[in-house]
Amino acid sequence: SAEAEELRTAIRRELEAQDAVLVAHYYTDPLIQSLAEETGGCVADSLEMARFGNAHPASTLVVAGVRFMGETAKILNPEKRVLMPTLEATCSLDIGCPADEFAAFCDQHPERTVVVYANTSAAVKARADWVVTSSCAEAIVDYLDSKGETILWAPDKHLGAYIQRSTQADMLLWDGSCIVHEEFKGQGVEDLRATMPGAVVLAHPESPAAVVEQADVVGSTSRLIEAVRTMDAEDFIVATDSGIFHKMHEMAPEKNLIEAPTAGQGATCRSCAHCPWMAMNGLDNVLRVLRKQDEEIHVDAATREKALIPLQRMLDFTS
Ligand code: 13P
Ligand code: SF4
Repeated sequence: SAEAEELRTAIRRELEAQDAVLVAHYYTDPLIQSLAEETGGCVADSLEMARFGNAHPASTLVVAGVRFMGETAKILNPEKRVLMPTLEATCSLDIGCPADEFAAFCDQHPERTVVVYANTSAAVKARADWVVTSSCAEAIVDYLDSKGETILWAPDKHLGAYIQRSTQADMLLWDGSCIVHEEFKGQGVEDLRATMPGAVVLAHPESPAAVVEQADVVGSTSRLIEAVRTMDAEDFIVATDSGIFHKMHEMAPEKNLIEAPTAGQGATCRSCAHCPWMAMNGLDNVLRVLRKQDEEIHVDAATREKALIPLQRMLDFTS
């Protein structure tokens, strides 16, 4: 629309004037994703977002996604200004793992290596030995297991259980989940698949076991997009946030992409599974924060110093 075009033009101007770059997640508004790419920023999974922000020379990062992504950028780049369209954009995994309760849990199990998912607060990361994202969690747990370490895992129980099954590592799991992926139903996926011979099932590992067990590919958002692009199939049943369809369509316009069924819904549907916090990011608040600088991420120095250690370990492990 004309209005969106006006916003995009204004944002382009502000990004340039302020030496700022836009770093967006695959679940955000397609208008943000395409603008990020056009202006030399990126659209990526959470590990790649962290890497990109770290490597880019801009003095301001505008992180379109959810709060932990902005905090990760700030922890890695304290000298940069990190802005977000809204600081209200959180994550059910982050909410479900308060730092004080988490610290008490760790204190009860001092012998375990603490591995936390990136979808956590800076304070929770500060208590961890390792931070992981969905794209490297399995490899890192496998590595720790091979050294004989036992693991305390938080907060996503579905991702944790998936890794436990695949690596056989000794893992004690925190009880957290993603409200978006939790809605996907194994029976629904099974019924849908039965009507589509040859369909490939793709699942983000935050989905429940009954869904993940049926998947042909389980992986991070980037991995699932890559599967659509490279796999020789026509139909793909996709169990992750519907924001991802934008990039999947762009990469493989000829392929048929179907949302995996969610609770209480037998047939397929459009945009049933969409993260309410990712949805808070729009062109309007990207422009507002660039003009007003009113939603800036701050992480106190003591927390930052501690949280940097497990984050840097993850980057070094995956480099
Ligand atoms: P990715 O690291 O796969 O992008 O996942 C982030 C996320 O929040 C998934 O819900
Ligand atoms: Fe968190 Fe789930 Fe939203 Fe990802 S989709 S940001 S895990 S609530």
